[in-house]
Amino acid sequence: MATSSFQTSWLAVALVVVASGITLAPPRAEAARAFFVFGDSLVDNGNNNYLTTTARADSPPYGIDYPTHRPTGRFSNGFNIPDFISQRIGSEPTLPYLSPELRGQRLLVGANFASAGIGILNDTGSQFINVIRMYQQLDYFRQYQQKVVALIGQERTRKLVNQALVLVTVGGNDFVNNYYLVPYSARSRQYSLPNYVRFLISEFKKQLMRLHDLGARRVMVTGTGPLGCVPAELAMRGRNGQCAAELQKAASLYNPQLIQMLKDLNKKYKSQVFIAANTQLTHNDFITNPKAFGFISSKVACCGQGPYNGLGLCTVASSLCNNRDQYAFWDPFHPSQKANRLIVQQIMTGSTKYMYPMNLSTIMALDSRL
Ligand SMILES: *[C@@H]1O[C@H](CO)[C@@H](O)[C@H](O)[C@H]1NC(C)=O
Ligand SMILES: *[C@@H]1O[C@H](CO)[C@@H](O)[C@H](O)[C@H]1NC(C)=O
Repeated sequence: MATSSFQTSWLAVALVVVASGITLAPPRAEAARAFFVFGDSLVDNGNNNYLTTTARADSPPYGIDYPTHRPTGRFSNGFNIPDFISQRIGSEPTLPYLSPELRGQRLLVGANFASAGIGILNDTGSQFINVIRMYQQLDYFRQYQQKVVALIGQERTRKLVNQALVLVTVGGNDFVNNYYLVPYSARSRQYSLPNYVRFLISEFKKQLMRLHDLGARRVMVTGTGPLGCVPAELAMRGRNGQCAAELQKAASLYNPQLIQMLKDLNKKYKSQVFIAANTQLTHNDFITNPKAFGFISSKVACCGQGPYNGLGLCTVASSLCNNRDQYAFWDPFHPSQKANRLIVQQIMTGSTKYMYPMNLSTIMALDSRL
């Protein structure tokens, strides 16, 4: 017994040494590919902390399950989708572009330009006052590259950007915080829903082309989630716990057209630059069968108030669940850390139904051969 337990612990020590050797040997910033993030609150990791805006997640209980147990600006109880992607590509989390810590070698890890409240359109989220709209996120990306050029020169910067992984998550707010924000909104008087969706897709296409012009060559683009099924909509619009029909219709019109637009762009560039991540499907899986994922509820938010905990903001005064991992939704709009982990699991290894034309593990295998 003694021998065997000695052997076990020796083995454990050996494994620790090997494992730490692997993680510590190359400087991390150089080792992993850079990662850039654009979009809204689903992927903002703290830019809005630096802005005068009401769209913020910088007070408790946000961040309660983050390693520091403090709010970070992420709209999650802990990690968000970009964090789990950074972990999967072997990188440290990207810093918010507005963070004063984003300088020197840390620039080489990449950057997060996302800003809660924004949409594809400039008029989306105008009630949040000062947020970083998509055109400005892209301007910042250009500015970021100038800083990196000063650090490592033109040629290496071009390579860093071309070889980087990019995530774009935007579009939900163009419905929730624009078209459907108030009855008879300006956009809903201007466009029928099908025409509004076509308009969004055409504007989004221009932004993605600009991203390509700026050097991005591997861009994962997520569709909207099941917009009508989030706790906020169940509380405000749903009937007897059913998802809000008009928002579900919007998502079902938008997502297929998004995939088609990405296919068209890939054809235009003669390369698989754009990858469609069908996060709606992943999310639908949670909603149709929460127990299969260890959730006791995919309707009730962990943090909030009122029916489904879906009303108002998540604050210290809210009702808060005990075990955050049992809830698909952390607050009335945003997935929990556990749900984010599962979404990234599908991004990594999902079939073509979830990731078109390929998943992130395939992308990484392909790109490592270049
Ligand atoms: C948003 O505003 C910027 C700056 O004014 C402008 O360049 C851009 O074309 C606008 N985008 C849309 C979709 O209207
Ligand atoms: C996704 O990843 C798994 C490996 O984790 C692989 O077997 C599968 O073929 C991949 N699918 C696509 C479409 O890339």
